Amino acid sequence: MRILVTGGAGYIGSHTVLSLQQAGHEVVVIDNLVNSSAESLRRVAELSGTPAVFHRADLVDESAVDAVFAGHAIDAVIHFAGLKAVGESVREPLHYYYNNLVGTLNLLRVMDRRGVRSIVFSSSATVYGEHNPVPYLEKMEIGANNPYGRTKEQVEDILADLGAADSRWQIALLRYFNPVGAHPSGRIGEDPQGVPNNLVPFIAQVAVGRREKLMVFGGDYDTPDGTCQRDYIHVVDLADGHVAALDHITGRPGVYRWNLGSGKGSSVLEVLRAFEKAAGKRIPYEITGRRSGDLPAFWADASSALADLSWSTTRTVDQMCEDHWRWQKNNPQGY
Ligand SMILES: NC(=O)c1ccc[n+]([C@@H]2O[C@H](COP(=O)([O-])OP(=O)(O)OC[C@H]3O[C@@H](n4cnc5c(N)ncnc54)[C@H](O)[C@@H]3O)[C@@H](O)[C@H]2O)c1
Repeated sequence: MRILVTGGAGYIGSHTVLSLQQAGHEVVVIDNLVNSSAESLRRVAELSGTPAVFHRADLVDESAVDAVFAGHAIDAVIHFAGLKAVGESVREPLHYYYNNLVGTLNLLRVMDRRGVRSIVFSSSATVYGEHNPVPYLEKMEIGANNPYGRTKEQVEDILADLGAADSRWQIALLRYFNPVGAHPSGRIGEDPQGVPNNLVPFIAQVAVGRREKLMVFGGDYDTPDGTCQRDYIHVVDLADGHVAALDHITGRPGVYRWNLGSGKGSSVLEVLRAFEKAAGKRIPYEITGRRSGDLPAFWADASSALADLSWSTTRTVDQMCEDHWRWQKNNPQGY
């Protein structure tokens, strides 16, 4: 198939472009490069041997999106493009709602007009909010507790309404847990701008000497070692999950929700130790106060994706850290 990947120059997008190409699909990318570099796509082409077609365009510009569809016979869309920093979304809610919702509405309107009614959407475990017991199951009632998470929840609602109104739509809502790691080649990986918001990129920047030490937010949670537990998923497993979801929905109209996670929680200190092992060095850290809004522990119930897609994670936290370290060591300043 010919797949349009929005946000394809980004972290998860670039790994998914590679997985799609390796599965035999043709790829067209739209990205405005607000949080990425076109270098990622050049390196993906190096790894796959086939360049993806790249359009630098903003999804909030509906005519630019339409022009891309006019130029290519697109069969399906994987929609990553969006802003994703929780803290920034609290400070700049209008910016987040505008980018993530208007961008998505433009994309969906163009898809509908052009008769492309197959979409895989990047949702997030953050939609489960604070009230659900772990592990999280797709059938639980969602309710995010920050503007970023609410943009994900609202796009899920829009897509569910669309699927209910028009039975031709094939829609997958993928709720990612905590993606980390990099392609094992060390050529592509996560390249955060400014201070990393996520644990492993932060540890990696300490390991490479760009930051002094890791701040661990809270060491007195009710968890085995007192630090928060999350469900980490290797980005290549996550990318493969998109290919599996796309295969499943093709020819099967409906609205599907799948957790993409390992089904297991790992603590901050466990991840830190795994990274130290991968990098072969001690990583300085300091335990400080809890960060407001952080949940003590959550992980996925990953059984639906296994049952429906025959997909499950295959890479361990050790592999995530080894691959992340290879990328960081070879590209200390990112792209
Ligand atoms: N990384 C995570 O921890 C995580 C977890 C759950 C969900 N997600 C979601 O997965 C998706 C991809 O995340 P990522 O980690 O690869 O982030 P990323 O920032 O690396 O990728 C997002 C890409 O979208 C592009 N983009 C943003 N707004 C755009 C717009 N209006 N028009 C065109 N391009 C635009 C950015 O330039 C970037 O390349 C996002 O929707 C994110 O919310 C990420």
